[in-house]
Amino acid sequence: MEDNSGGRSRSPLMLNTEYALLSQGNVRSMPAEKVTVSVIKADVGSLVGHSRPHPSMLEASKEILADAQKQGVIEDFYVTRVGDDINLYMTHYKGVGSKDVHGAAWECFQKAAKIAKSMKLYAAGQDILTDAFSGNVKGAGPGSAEMSFVERGSEPLMFFMADKTEPSAYSLPLSRIFLDPFTTTGLVVDARAKKGFDVEIQDVIGHKKVVMKSPEETLSILSLLGDTSRYAIKRICSRAGIGPACVVSTDKLNLTAGKYIGKDDPVCICRAQSGLPSVGEYLQPFMNTTMLVAGWMRGSHYGAFYPCSPEDSDPVYFDGPPRICCLGFQLNGGKLQGLEPLGAKNGDHIPVDFFKSDTWDVARANAVKASRFIRSQGPFMPSILGPEEMEYTSRPEVIKELTSRFEDLD
Ligand code: F6R
Ligand code: MG
Ligand code: MG
Repeated sequence: MEDNSGGRSRSPLMLNTEYALLSQGNVRSMPAEKVTVSVIKADVGSLVGHSRPHPSMLEASKEILADAQKQGVIEDFYVTRVGDDINLYMTHYKGVGSKDVHGAAWECFQKAAKIAKSMKLYAAGQDILTDAFSGNVKGAGPGSAEMSFVERGSEPLMFFMADKTEPSAYSLPLSRIFLDPFTTTGLVVDARAKKGFDVEIQDVIGHKKVVMKSPEETLSILSLLGDTSRYAIKRICSRAGIGPACVVSTDKLNLTAGKYIGKDDPVCICRAQSGLPSVGEYLQPFMNTTMLVAGWMRGSHYGAFYPCSPEDSDPVYFDGPPRICCLGFQLNGGKLQGLEPLGAKNGDHIPVDFFKSDTWDVARANAVKASRFIRSQGPFMPSILGPEEMEYTSRPEVIKELTSRFEDLD
């Protein structure tokens, strides 16, 4: 197995598997066990309007996941939110799509929705589309991003969470991070990053996916991704044997083949450093670019990505502008390590909150400036999205009413 530790300490997981075998005189090491990192998220009601879940909803989710941890379903967890979406981070050894892990998340959303209903919160139960849990949240309303990999000697994880936008909102920043050496110097100077990446792209309209190679196919990749209404990055994997680098939640894109319904308030899990983009390289695009993304008010406008702490992720201006948060943890033998002392219980972690810093004030000010500018167009394109992407439209009724009054042009 490749040593990605850069000579630093090794995880307990590796000690338990590979080294135990080596010490028994095995020359060929067995494949190490893969840890899975899952983020499952849903909007099951909020106040006021589509602003934020009630703290009791997050607290109830914590209790359910603490129980799942005690029962050995998950190794560790952290409960947070962005805007009106509850985000459940979970680590475990049950693999992607585990019924037990998805079931625990489903239970959290059921309970949180019940609380939202009892408080008469807005859109209570919104993302729960079915009464019966079928073993996986896919197609049931919540969104999910999951990746399995062999934990490296040191494993920095970053969790991006966005509200009031769609999965393809990550295409521009991920292109900057993985395809642009003027953003990610590591693509030039880190021998393993220089080997390139496999980029899996989903075609929402054709209901297909394709894996393309960077850097060889960079321009063709951009030719697809530039159409954010049709194409979105699902995952990116190292071509230097490190495994997955990032994965985006795209569940709603898959709900209905051939029909775009996608405002998914997506998450993106990233592994950083040592042959992958560094923490700072992942963050940089959010500083240097004002990124206009689809969503915002009524899922029907362009607004600029506003980088902030989850604490500042209430959509306070025209239901936005679309928020992007980024929390970081180190993985430690399948458990999350934040700023809290070693061995935290009950999901009581303190992540590094990257966009909280004053350093990002300038990016926030730019996002508000760009959003105000585009708002000055009111209900005219390009302030509003194209007709096929609008989440709300009254046009079919307007056209129907006017059918008899439309006349042929001369
Ligand atoms: C966008 C969003 C909000 C709502 C808007 C209208 O994703 O959640 O912008 O679309 O507040 O909400 P309704 O139609 O529920 O009145
Ligand atoms: Mg909502
Ligand atoms: Mg939301």
